[in-house]
This record gives sequence, structure tokens and C-alpha cells, in this order.
Amino acid sequence: MEEEHLRALTQADADGDDRVVDAALRPKSLDEVVGQHRVRDQLGLVLEAARQRGRAPDHVLLSGPPGLGKTTLAMIIANEMSAPLRVTSGPAITHAGDLASILSGINEGDVVFVDEIHRMSRPAEEMLYMAMEDFRVDVVVGKGPGATAIPLDIPPFTLVGATTRAGLLPGPLRDRFGFTAHLDFYEPADLDLIVRRSAGLLGVEITDGGAGRIASRSRGTPRIANRLLRRVRDYAQVRADGVLTDEVAAAALDLYEVDDLGLDRLDRSVIEALCLRFAGGPVGIATLAVAVGEERETVEEVAEPFLVRNGFLVRTPRGRVATPAAWEHLGLTPPRIDPAGGRSSTSGTGQQELFED
Ligand SMILES: Nc1ncnc2c1ncn2[C@@H]1O[C@H](COP(=O)(O)OP(=O)(O)OP(=O)(O)O)[C@@H](O)[C@H]1O
Ligand SMILES: [Mg+2]
Repeated sequence: MEEEHLRALTQADADGDDRVVDAALRPKSLDEVVGQHRVRDQLGLVLEAARQRGRAPDHVLLSGPPGLGKTTLAMIIANEMSAPLRVTSGPAITHAGDLASILSGINEGDVVFVDEIHRMSRPAEEMLYMAMEDFRVDVVVGKGPGATAIPLDIPPFTLVGATTRAGLLPGPLRDRFGFTAHLDFYEPADLDLIVRRSAGLLGVEITDGGAGRIASRSRGTPRIANRLLRRVRDYAQVRADGVLTDEVAAAALDLYEVDDLGLDRLDRSVIEALCLRFAGGPVGIATLAVAVGEERETVEEVAEPFLVRNGFLVRTPRGRVATPAAWEHLGLTPPRIDPAGGRSSTSGTGQQELFED
């Protein structure tokens, strides 16, 4: 029970109540988006040019770890174009027919948002290629040898795809997006602004120190910043005088086991397993996931990007390896690297993009 509560707190995916508040805190226009300056400028230009031409903007692919603003940007694209947003997701499209029925119902200029687009089925993917490029789909009528494909024209629309795993998208699909935005973890200064903005919207009083403290422990992720803000608010209300000061924030975050670098329980259990059970690695991702009792996808998509980005873990061709920083963060002494052994791979930044399986 307690466990679950703590997990829910630091997980980057929202559910239940959090979703309602998340929606209230979501920026509605590009101007309200904090940080991600390059993406904002580039996307702003794409949208403005389309508006001037009176056309639907090019298809947009948004990639990046959970909670950084992909869904937010998709909604903003529709909003900025004053177009309706149709929302679906890769796992929901199991048959090409599912996609055909969505596409056959759209009007010119609609924005179609496909979340987790890397999880779409192959036949649907192929139908999507044609829809994106030629604004046409083939609807199959009937079964077996008598089946016929009826071509159906669809009005120009904008596809917005979101994915936490751009690398899993087949090349032909990736190439059909006119604009790709990769969202990266936010700088503490941007998270600071997000925390202040959200505090303002929630009507809570926060000091500079309080905002800074929450920002620095938010794992570079706006969704987590907003969630920690709400937990600190709870703490301030129950155990203090309601003001979110540095002391209140620090005490609350310690209580919720978010450490001073923002690592949460999952992050820590990954590096702990790596260091303590596998002597620092290399170890395969599947084994590592079993060791921490999580799905491979969760370790790979939720914990790993942040750990890699912050230099705690590297991906090598033979598996995941803990860096000296990981050992030190756990208060342990890193093992000495044997120059003749495989451990020297820990320093190879060029190998970070390689996977062992
Ligand atoms: N640039 C930003 N400025 C302010 N708030 C932001 C920004 N980006 C995201 N947020 C906040 O973070 C929350 C999570 O963002 P969002 O739902 O768009 O993430 P996501 O990338 O779609 O995540 P997932 O991969 O889990 O679907 C939003 O509710 C919003 O309040
Ligand atoms: Mg989303």
C-alpha cells in the first residue's frame, strides 16, 4: 500500500486525480510552454507558415522520455491551428480497419494524434504511410479471395505522432514526418519556472528556495515537478503553515524518498541492482529488469534515459554498466577498472547508443 503510493508519486505516468490536475496545469499555447526553446521556435515557424498558406501543417513527430510534454504539444498544435484534435494511440490500433475508420471520419485540417505510435500494428502502419503521403487509404471490403480494396480519399490532415522510443519507428514511417521534435530533459531553471507557474495556478504560496528545491529534484521532468509540488503542498498544509519553503520542501521530499539528485525508488533500485547484484555490469536489460521486478519497457523507457543522461549508467554492446558516479551515489567505492578487462567500456561515450540485445 505504502509502497504503491510511493511508486505512484515518482512514476512519470499520470493516473487518476493527477490526470485532472495535470490537465489544469498544461500549457494551452506555445507562448505558455516553458523551456524547450528550440522545439518551440521550430514548431512555431511550421505552424505559422501553414497558417499563412491556409494549409494543414506537415506531420509532426514528437519523441522523448515520459512527462516532458509530448501530449501537451500535440494539444497545442491543434489549439494553435484552431483545429479539432482526434486522439488515439498505437496500442488501440490493432487492425488497419481501426485506423481506416478514424481517418475516414476526419475533416480537412484536423489534427490526428497517435500516442505511442511505435506500438501500432504493422498493417496499420502501412496504411498510415499511404494516408500520410497521398491522403488516401485502401479500405478492404469482404474476406478471402473475394476481398476488394476500395480506395478512399481523405482530406489533408496533420498527423502528430508521439513516442518514447523514436528508435523503434520503422524508417519509412519516420521519414514521412515533415518535422521531428526531440524533447530532452529540462534544465533546473526551466523546472523552477514550471513549479512557480503551477504553484500560481494552484494558488499556493511558494518561496524561491521552495521552488528551487522542488525543481532540482524533479528528474528534469515537468510532470514530476508538478507532482512533487502537490505532495509538498500536502506536507505544508498538514505539517507546516501552508507556505512551501525550502525547509518544508526538503522535509517533504525526503519523506517521499526523492533524493537530492531527483533519483526515485526505481532509479535507485536499478543502479543498486547493477552495482550490488551484478558487480557493476555489464548485464543485459532483460536480466536487470527481472532483478528490480519491473517490466523491461519500464526500465528502458522510464528509468534508463535519466540515468544515462546523468552519467550513472552506460549502454555497451555487452550490457548495461554502472559508472563510478553510480557507485558513489550509493555511497560505495567503485571497483578498480582492469585495463585488460571489459570494464574499460564504461568510459566509451561513443558506445552509449549500442544495445546488447
Ligand atoms: N514545457 C512545459 N511547460 C510547462 N508545463 C509542462 C511542459 N511540458 C509538460 N508540462 C506539464 O507536464 C505534464 C506532462 O506533460 P505531457 O502529458 O505532455 O507529457 P508526455 O510527454 O505526453 O508524457 P507521456 O510520454 O507519459 O505521455 C503536463 O500536464 C504539463 O502540465
Ligand atoms: Mg503523453
